[in-house]
Amino acid sequence: MKENLFDLTGKVALVTGASRGIGESIARLLAAYGAEVIVSSRKIDGCEEVAASIRAQGGKAHAFACHVGEMAQIDATFEYIKSTFGKLDILVNNAAANPYFGHILDTDLAAYEKTVDVNVRGYFFMSIAAGKMMKELGSGVILNTASVNGLSPGDMQGIYSITKAAVISMTKAFAKECGSLNIRVNALLPGLTDTKFASALTSNENILKHALKVIPLGRVADPDEMAGTVLYLVSDASSYTTGTTVVVDGGMMA
Ligand SMILES: NC(=O)c1ccc[n+]([C@@H]2O[C@H](COP(=O)([O-])OP(=O)(O)OC[C@H]3O[C@@H](n4cnc5c(N)ncnc54)[C@H](OP(=O)(O)O)[C@@H]3O)[C@@H](O)[C@H]2O)c1
Repeated sequence: MKENLFDLTGKVALVTGASRGIGESIARLLAAYGAEVIVSSRKIDGCEEVAASIRAQGGKAHAFACHVGEMAQIDATFEYIKSTFGKLDILVNNAAANPYFGHILDTDLAAYEKTVDVNVRGYFFMSIAAGKMMKELGSGVILNTASVNGLSPGDMQGIYSITKAAVISMTKAFAKECGSLNIRVNALLPGLTDTKFASALTSNENILKHALKVIPLGRVADPDEMAGTVLYLVSDASSYTTGTTVVVDGGMMA
C-alpha cells in the first residue's frame, strides 16, 4: 500500500475560481500536498496574489486568467496547459455565478444565461477539454463544486439551484462514460460557507439566524473546511470512488 495516500507530488492541478473563497482554500491545500497548481479566475491579479503566496510557502503555483463562461477562454486555458505542462492530472471546476437572488418568476433572460453559461456550459466544456487530455495521459480526476442547493433548491435561488442539480447529474454522466478511461469524477456539495459569494445570505441578520437554526453544527463553514474533502476526492485515498457526491454542510441536509 502507498505510504501517503494523499500525496499529490508530480500532479498538475487546475483550480477555477481560485483567487478567493473555497477555490483558494482548495488550491492552497492541493499545493501543500505536492501538486503543481494553476490558480485561475477571471481577474489575473487575484490569481497572481494567491499563486505568489503559495510559492512563498514553498509550493508550486502559476496564475492563469479564464472566464469559464467564455468558450474562447476555455480553449486558451487548455492551450496554455498543453504547451506549459504537457498534461493535466486534476481539474477542479469550482468557479460559479449566482447573479440573481429573488423570486423564480422574476428571473430574466440575462440572469438565466449568465448562470447557465458559467455553471453548466463552463463546467461541461472544461470537463471535456480536461477529459481529452486525461484520456491521452491514461488517468485523471475531475472534481466539481456543486452545492446542497442542487439537492434541495435554496429559497430565491431558483436558477442557481437548477444549475447545481445539473452539475450533480454532469458528475455522474462523466463518471459513467470516463470510468473505463481511468478518469474519476466526483462532486463536493458545500453548505453555507463564509465567502463573498454567500455574503448576501451571511450579512443579512434575519436570513443568517434562520439558516443557523437548520445547521446542526450551528455555524457557517470556513472555506478551509471544504478543502479536505476535495483533497480526499482528488487523491489516491479515494481511488475506487467515482460518480459520487459528498455533502459538507454542518449536518443541514440531515
Ligand atoms: N459560499 C457558499 O456558501 C457556497 C455554498 C455552496 C456552494 N458554493 C460553491 O462554491 C464555489 C465557490 O464559491 P465561493 O463561495 O468560494 O465564492 P467566492 O469566494 O465568491 O469566489 C468565487 C471565485 O470564482 C471566481 N469566478 C467568478 N465567476 C467566474 C467566472 N465566470 N469564471 C472564472 N472564475 C470566476 C472569482 O474570481 P474572479 O472574480 O476573479 O473571477 C473567485 O475566485 C461555487 O461553485 C459556489 O457555487 C458556495
